[in-house]
Parts: sequence; structure tokens; C-alpha cells
Amino acid sequence: MNKPLKISRYPASDNRSLKSYSAADEYILNYLSEHKIDTDEVAVFNDRFGYLSLHLIDNNPTIISNYKSQEYAIINNAEDNEIDIDKLKFQSPLESLTNNIDLAIIKVPKSLDLFRLYLIQIHKSSTESTRIVCGFMTKYFTKQMLTIASEYFDVQEQSLAWKKSRLLILSVPKTIVNTDIINTLPHENLNGQEVIIKQYFGVFSAKHIDYATQFLIQNLELDSEVERVLDVASGNGILAYEISCLKPDVELHLLDDSYLANASAKINLNDQEATFHYAHNLVDIESDYFDLVVCNPPFHFEHENNIDIALELFHGIARVLHEDGRFLCVANLHLNYKTHLSKIFEQVEVTAMNSKFVVYECWK
Ligand SMILES: C[S@@+](CC[C@H](N)C(=O)[O-])C[C@H]1O[C@@H](n2cnc3c(N)ncnc32)[C@H](O)[C@@H]1O
Repeated sequence: MNKPLKISRYPASDNRSLKSYSAADEYILNYLSEHKIDTDEVAVFNDRFGYLSLHLIDNNPTIISNYKSQEYAIINNAEDNEIDIDKLKFQSPLESLTNNIDLAIIKVPKSLDLFRLYLIQIHKSSTESTRIVCGFMTKYFTKQMLTIASEYFDVQEQSLAWKKSRLLILSVPKTIVNTDIINTLPHENLNGQEVIIKQYFGVFSAKHIDYATQFLIQNLELDSEVERVLDVASGNGILAYEISCLKPDVELHLLDDSYLANASAKINLNDQEATFHYAHNLVDIESDYFDLVVCNPPFHFEHENNIDIALELFHGIARVLHEDGRFLCVANLHLNYKTHLSKIFEQVEVTAMNSKFVVYECWK
């Protein structure tokens, strides 16, 4: 089970401190091998680059993927290790696991809401003999992890620490559990109506509309000739939603790497015709097409911070903008995106700024 594989990150990074797996991943595999757990009814959650799924490929794992980039990374790593990609069985986090599973493996995500969503899905397919092996780096442990786990499984065992990582082993499903997986965010839209924005657990900014996004919304003005709009890194779809409030007849496109984000945006844009792109870059989007692109770019990835992905998205945005199209981008002031944007766009202006955030307007 533990033959060494070469697992690369996707996208690759020059930052050598960023790894493609952690001691927690190794600990999970060691645990399975020491306890001789060898089953074909296994589901793997939050395995970013495929370290766990590909080492367990002979067990025919169901890989629960919430990110298009994750699927892409795992496929690339399978090919690099000469693993038949037809063996990769991806499933979205909202799909029920088909069988009663013997084993679920979770690399515990930073969002404990998402951890809960995974436990709810596993709980539905668990029997008395199902074991759930959760791995995490000790520095990320919080008591809340145990509290949540105890709401779904009666037995919780904690391992000793190994290379600064630990395991939490769960079993014996509880009979009655809370199965809510959607957060509700009260919000006043640009038409002055009180609305509820909904989002699945694990989607960006769970308690309120993100403050940077609110700042962009406050400074949002649409020219009357705007017809085609793209919301990049759309999350729960709030920016596209507000644009549809201002101009209901625009052709709206939303793009996000997260499956749960896309599913949430579909709820929030319920009445509005829109095209949803579940994608981690803009390669499949038509060039010179959009009059307006809006974006609050990603910066945090689990426990990592990285602007490389935002920069790649900016290049894609420049390509898909119409000749006279505008790109509106909001960011934290300290990220100083102007330097980067100016290398990609012909003209970059600051249109609004407060003590924390800045809105850039760019033309190509
Ligand atoms: C800062 S949030 C903004 C979300 C939403 N627009 C809002 O304002 O609440 C960034 C979003 O980028 C998404 N994301 C991360 N990497 C991405 C990528 N490579 N391509 C597209 N979206 C990505 C995340 O899933 C997240 O929803």
C-alpha cells in the first residue's frame, strides 16, 4: 500500500516550503498498514494533490473532490506515476456515497464547517463497522474538531503525535444528527431589499459577505452599454448577483474552482439566467468577449497564502476582456496588486480605497 510515489503540486510553486503532502498524510497511510486495514469500500476526502488516493489506488477509492484544480492535480500525478487514470473515481461533496463504506479518510480541512459537511456525508453511509481516519498537523488542532466529530460518531480515539501530526479515529455512528450544510447570510442588496444569501459549508466567508467584496459592491457602477459580465472566483456568486440586481438583462458568467461555491452561486442566482464555469483557470473562456470582469481574487488556500493563482487569473482576464472592456478588482491594500496588474494591463487606476481595501479598474 505504501510504495513511494512522486506527488507534485498543481500549480507548481517556486516556494520550496510548500509541499505536496504532509506528515499527517504519511501518518494516515502508516496507520492503515499497521492496522491491516485493506478494503475496497473507501472514500477519501480533501486529498489536495492525490498523495492518499494514489497510494490507495489498488483499493479503488472514491475521491471526494471539491476543486477542479484538485482533480487536475490528481490526474497529472496519476499519469506521472503511470497509474491508469480510468481508475480515478471522482465524486462531488454533495453526492451521496453509494455503498455502506468501511473506511473514510479525511485530511481535515481548515474550514471546520467543511469538516462537518464531510462527516454528514460519511455518516449517511456508515455502519457499526465503518472507521473514519482523520489526519491533521497538530498546530492546526482545535477542540472544535472534537466537538463536531462527537456530534456524528460515538467513539473518538486520538493517536499519539508523530512528526507533529495526529490522527483522530471515529466510529459508531450516532442515530440522530444535525444534517444542515448551508449557511445563511442576511444581506441588503443594491436595490435596498433585505435578502438571504446562501452558501454550502466550506464556501468562502461563512458568516457575512466578505468585507472586501462589500467595498467593491459599494463602488460598483455599470455603464449602460455593459452586456457581457464575468465574475471570476465567484464564490457564493454575490458579485454576479448584485450586477444582476443593477442590470437584470446582462449575460452573466461565473467561474470558480470550488464545486461547493458553484453550487451555492446557482442557489443565489436562482431566478437569473447565468453560465456557471466549474474551472480553475480561464482557458476554456472565449477571448475578447467580456465588457466587464469583476473579481475578489483568492489569496488563502487552506493554511497557505499565495498570490500566484491570482496572477494567473489576471492574465486570463486580460485575454477574455473585450478591447474596451473593464476589469474591476478588489484586494487587501497590503497586497499591493497595482505593481502586478500594471505588468498585465495597459492602464490601471485606483477607483476607491479605504484603510483596508482598494478597488482597481484595469483596461487592456
Ligand atoms: C476571495 S474569494 C471571493 C469569493 C466571492 N467572489 C466573494 O466575493 O465572496 C475567492 C474565491 O476564489 C476561488 N478560487 C480559488 N482558486 C481559484 C482558481 N484557481 N480559479 C477560480 N477560482 C478560484 C475560491 O474557491 C473562492 O471562492
